[in-house]
Amino acid sequence: MSTPDMSVNLAGIALRNPVMTASGTFGYGAEFAEHVDLHKIGAFVTKGLCLKPRAGNPTPRIVETPGGMLNAIGLQNVGIDAFVAKKVPFLRTVDTPAIANFFGGTIDEYAEMARRLDEIPEIAALEMNISCPNVKQGGIVFGTDPSCAASVVAACRAATKKPLIVKLSPNVTDIVAMAHACVDAGADALSLINTLIGMAIDLKKRRPVLANITGGLSGPAIKPVALRMVWLVARAVKVPIVGIGGIMNATDALEFILAGASAVQVGTASFINPGAAQTIAEEMEAWLVANGVADVKSLIGALET
Ligand SMILES: Cc1cc2nc3c(=O)[nH]c(=O)nc-3n(C[C@H](O)[C@H](O)[C@H](O)COP(=O)(O)O)c2cc1C
Repeated sequence: MSTPDMSVNLAGIALRNPVMTASGTFGYGAEFAEHVDLHKIGAFVTKGLCLKPRAGNPTPRIVETPGGMLNAIGLQNVGIDAFVAKKVPFLRTVDTPAIANFFGGTIDEYAEMARRLDEIPEIAALEMNISCPNVKQGGIVFGTDPSCAASVVAACRAATKKPLIVKLSPNVTDIVAMAHACVDAGADALSLINTLIGMAIDLKKRRPVLANITGGLSGPAIKPVALRMVWLVARAVKVPIVGIGGIMNATDALEFILAGASAVQVGTASFINPGAAQTIAEEMEAWLVANGVADVKSLIGALET
């Protein structure tokens, strides 16, 4: 069989294959360039950016858990000015879409970030994080209430012409209501899921393991939760979905595509194998060849129930 068509379209961005990297697990791209041939993956997503540099939460802020990890990084990032000065020049050297993940503490800050990122030609699309569980502002307050989410998405929509992806939190009662609110307010695509809130306890010390007490759970442990949410949301809205959560190999990635995702993001897996995203893209193509599938797009939402 000839080489399968691995390309997908994500809200107007042409991806050579559906495998992207997840925000916070791939630096600003350059950090992983020695491990991943960036031209072999569909797109990469930056660490979450905001207006001013942030140091994040105190340590310890990462702990391994059964089938996953908890993190409470607290959105540490260089801030938009240093991003433009120090990180964007690298993006010019890569012919793969770079997506900027961003957040703010208020609606105005979100909109200002969308405006600043809109001015950067090297950025193909914006991914709004309204779902970080590790900071009080700048995420979860917007991501758990449909009307708050709609307001912040509408403000960012008005501030950018670039494709706007909204990243949803799983820490809600009704993910479909959140998805509708974001799409109605102008989201071009949705990515899901961000981490699930959890905690770890050190019995000997009788203390929480993380300085922040709680953190966000990621990795294989969350895959079934993520698959269900992607499946529910993909059936409810018309915009493309990016599936995220515990994707460790091509089988996991293809399951998300069957559930309705047009593309996927690889997160925690990159901490185990920094080359994971490229390997997953290559193994996905090999699976299509082995199974006589000529076009990966034919698998999107092809789950039989
Ligand atoms: C250390 C770490 C940092 C993260 N930072 C961000 C972030 O800045 N913005 C964001 O939207 N998601 C962030 N995430 C969430 C991931 O992008 C992803 O949604 C989540 O980890 C689930 O995918 P996974 O199970 O493949 O890791 C972070 C995750 C981890 C593990």
